[in-house]
Amino acid sequence: MPRIAITVDGIAYEEEVEPRLLLVHLLRDRLGKTGTPIGCDTSNCGACTVLLDGKSVKSCSVLAVQADGSAITTIEGLAANGTLHPMQRAFHEEHALQCGYCTPGMVMAAIDMLRDDPEPSEESIRHGLEGNLCRCTGYCNIVRAVRRGAQDMAVKTP
Ligand code: FES
Ligand code: FES
Repeated sequence: MPRIAITVDGIAYEEEVEPRLLLVHLLRDRLGKTGTPIGCDTSNCGACTVLLDGKSVKSCSVLAVQADGSAITTIEGLAANGTLHPMQRAFHEEHALQCGYCTPGMVMAAIDMLRDDPEPSEESIRHGLEGNLCRCTGYCNIVRAVRRGAQDMAVKTP
């Protein structure tokens, strides 16, 4: 079996993986990163979104072997020393979730979106999150949260 080296939330791992193993299963079943949920079996919902070398990917559509040599950030790696990432805090304070199933993927996708567009309009946010589905909220509070998170991140990283 192929052996891969991967860093997840700042911790280095070496794992033997079957070539067909999906990254999301490596994260959840081997490494215990159950904060990254699986919401579909069609690569549609975006719940499983993580950052792969800083870029958001649906971890159910990436093979673990494709992530060899990469650094992965999951929702569990965002908070630092018990302090929520500004985007996590914004989702909490803007009540941008109900069941919460979509939230990890939404937060990760939003953070990636801000790399190219640090001050997104409502339209850009809706467009940027098109690959992430929410069955509960109607999206309004999610859009508000992303705008607030963007503002807070801009303050933190001028
Ligand atoms: S679980 Fe990956 S897109 Fe739905
Ligand atoms: S909060 Fe339930 S799916 Fe988004």
